[in-house]
Amino acid sequence: MADGTKDTKSSNQMWGGRFASGPDAIMEEINASIGFDKKLFAQDIRGSIAHATMLAHQGIISAEDKDKIVHGLSTILSEIESGNFEFSRQLEDIHMNIEARLAALIGQAAGRLHTARSRNDQVALDFRLWVKEELQKTEAMLTNLIAAFLDRAEEHAESVMPGFTHLQTAQPVTFGHHCMAYVEMFGRDRSRVRHAIEHLDESPIGAAALAGTGYPIDRHMTAKALGFREPTRNSIDTVSDRDFAIEFLSIAAICGMHLSRLAEEIVIWSTPQFGFVRLSDAFSTGSSIMPQKKNPDAAELVRAKTGRINGSLIALLTIMKGLPLAYSKDMQEDKEQVFDAAESLELAIAAMTGMVRDMTVNTERMKAAAGSGYSTATDLADWLVREAGLPFRDAHHVTGRAVALAESKGCDLAELPLADLQTINPAITGKVYDVLTVEASVASRKSFGGTAPSEVRKQIAFWRARN
Ligand code: ARG
Repeated sequence: MADGTKDTKSSNQMWGGRFASGPDAIMEEINASIGFDKKLFAQDIRGSIAHATMLAHQGIISAEDKDKIVHGLSTILSEIESGNFEFSRQLEDIHMNIEARLAALIGQAAGRLHTARSRNDQVALDFRLWVKEELQKTEAMLTNLIAAFLDRAEEHAESVMPGFTHLQTAQPVTFGHHCMAYVEMFGRDRSRVRHAIEHLDESPIGAAALAGTGYPIDRHMTAKALGFREPTRNSIDTVSDRDFAIEFLSIAAICGMHLSRLAEEIVIWSTPQFGFVRLSDAFSTGSSIMPQKKNPDAAELVRAKTGRINGSLIALLTIMKGLPLAYSKDMQEDKEQVFDAAESLELAIAAMTGMVRDMTVNTERMKAAAGSGYSTATDLADWLVREAGLPFRDAHHVTGRAVALAESKGCDLAELPLADLQTINPAITGKVYDVLTVEASVASRKSFGGTAPSEVRKQIAFWRARN
């Protein structure tokens, strides 16, 4: 304007700088969810068909109208699936986009579909159906990942490697046993997924806006038609609840944390310094400047995806934490978090399954590393307890002196001459060397759940039967 002030008619002075037009455009932009909730089109249509069918069955709408509605919805489904559907932001969300198109296709009858329902129970239904399918997909993907680990564990039930605590060599273990640790972790993730499916397996449709409805609907009928165990029991809770989404995100966060620890191990193991595994070309990349390099990018990205998933969990917990019952529009922000986390989790599980199946395990390097760092020191102490009758604390002390001696001579425990060992404790005999090898060390650890190959095979059989 000539006097230098801004024209406040077309854009707000305080916050309208970005917008060419007035607040309507801003309202539309902040309000619309079609950009992301179009992902729910198939669930929305399934839900509407079940609802219309129930309305007709209960005599709330006529059979003719129901037929028109169902036919129109099926047409819309194929339009969307074939990319011949124009989504409109003015129509805000997937529910209204579909309903508007239905009206264009079948006329007045379309207006009867929304009888005895609200977008509040509709969105709760669509989203639940979507999360349920995603959980089922996750369950199957975890089963594949577990199968990949079981195969590697079987192949390497006897291969020795150093076991670590504090990332310092601790005691020899078998690579099969290490693989089975991941089977346990992903097995727990999968059982969390199964529980979550059980928790969410209730149908929200029919809760209406929040109070239920005066129409004689049959919620058991729609629940059954949509594959739910039963309808939800409290209409207020039904439209307020996003626990199913938060549960999905927490499971994804825990599983992502497991995947990230695995990714970290693969990054470490595939360094030339460790050399325990070699990733296949399919799951690594080269460097544009250093020709010798083979980078574990896929593992690194899996490690990073965990950050995104954790972010989504915290975001949705924060969105929900201050909301009064029942529905508030804040809840519209639930979907992007779940969609993004689901995509990240799927990619991460798939990439890890591929990496685990494809990687080459260097058993020679693992074995050499397993024997270094005095990894059988505990076996020497245990031998002193068993064969020489020493209390464990004394045996620990004697072994410590043997390690110090070996260190000063620059050799392994098994390379110390018997005479040297006997200067530390005269009860030591030549038999002690039997327990100082890494193979003897792992074979001796037969306690339930221990690293002995015989135990690892039992764990594998247990999981094969379960998987
Ligand atoms: N797009 C909305 C969402 O995702 C649908 C529900 C809208 N309900 C309402 N009362 N405005 O949450």
